[in-house]
Amino acid sequence: MKSIRQQIIHGLSNDGPGHVLVLGDCLDILEHVPSNTVQAFITSPPYDTRRKATYGGVHEAGYLEWLLPRIRLMVMALTPTGVLVCNISPGRKSDGSLSIYDMQLVSTLVVEDGLAFAQKLNWLKGNFSKFVKNNTLMGGAGTGSVHRDCCEPIYVFARNMKFYRDINAVKNPIGDWASTRVNGKSGRVNSSTGSGFGCDRVKAAENEFARPHNVVRDDFDECENGIIVTPTATNGGENNTYKHSAVFPTTIPAHFIAYATRAMDVVCDPFVGSGTTMYTAFRDGRRSIGIDSSPDSIEKAKQRLNDNNVPYLFIDASKVLA
Ligand SMILES: C[S@@+](CC[C@H](N)C(=O)[O-])C[C@H]1O[C@@H](n2cnc3c(N)ncnc32)[C@H](O)[C@@H]1O
Repeated sequence: MKSIRQQIIHGLSNDGPGHVLVLGDCLDILEHVPSNTVQAFITSPPYDTRRKATYGGVHEAGYLEWLLPRIRLMVMALTPTGVLVCNISPGRKSDGSLSIYDMQLVSTLVVEDGLAFAQKLNWLKGNFSKFVKNNTLMGGAGTGSVHRDCCEPIYVFARNMKFYRDINAVKNPIGDWASTRVNGKSGRVNSSTGSGFGCDRVKAAENEFARPHNVVRDDFDECENGIIVTPTATNGGENNTYKHSAVFPTTIPAHFIAYATRAMDVVCDPFVGSGTTMYTAFRDGRRSIGIDSSPDSIEKAKQRLNDNNVPYLFIDASKVLA
């Protein structure tokens, strides 16, 4: 029988399906992914114990010690120009205060491991973004006395700032505002505040596309962050079909696949859950590896891949010699 490493290599090769789904703890599996293989890790690890009823979790007190070795294995499998995209919500402790394990993770990866903290995006969650405009609350109204957390951070790390990216792939159409801002003025217009900021509005308005901002929303069916998305509200949209308790929308992997990978590059999600990243990688012409330690999550991922005709090689790590 082929080793896990041999199977992964075969699964990604021209003779294989291009997508590999593995049942196992990513701590045991990632070391079998050859170095210099993955162009983008796009993942959302379990956050402390808030999902203990569905797929378990890790107590926030030991969270960093649990996650760090797994992240370090990811870095070893990255290409020199690759990125590591990690959606991780800090969560709240029993006294209601915010945990800081995500900040500790950022600090450790930058200070101890020397990674570049390339960008931070904010995922404005679908079931909030339609209400947030009016500052209204959905669910839980009246409970608690702190503001509701409607965004989750998405941290992007790279070996250095020379990581591969294509901002043109995620630019937004400039929009009608550009012509109204020109307002008959040409040449550089400086801010009236005296700050020294300013721009040539005519030149800016001539651009067809603008750089995306760092908010990823998931309930829009128009071009937002450069990606045409169908409504994928987390609790009730397409992802809910697979009944995983902590899905992210396809918008998130799609954004980073477009921005930080090329056709046929390998994308890996070591906490693949219901298979969102693998499905999106297939849809967008990339190869992928997905890993999950929960047989239940793996079943959901399989169903999703099968429903979408994604070819994949399945490996049950417990049945394979390392
Ligand atoms: C936040 S969910 C990911 C959901 C996924 N982004 C999606 O859209 O469906 C985290 C997943 O990590 C899995 N998990 C927890 N510990 C793991 C480990 N040590 N190795 C691999 N997967 C693990 C859980 O079973 C769960 O499915």
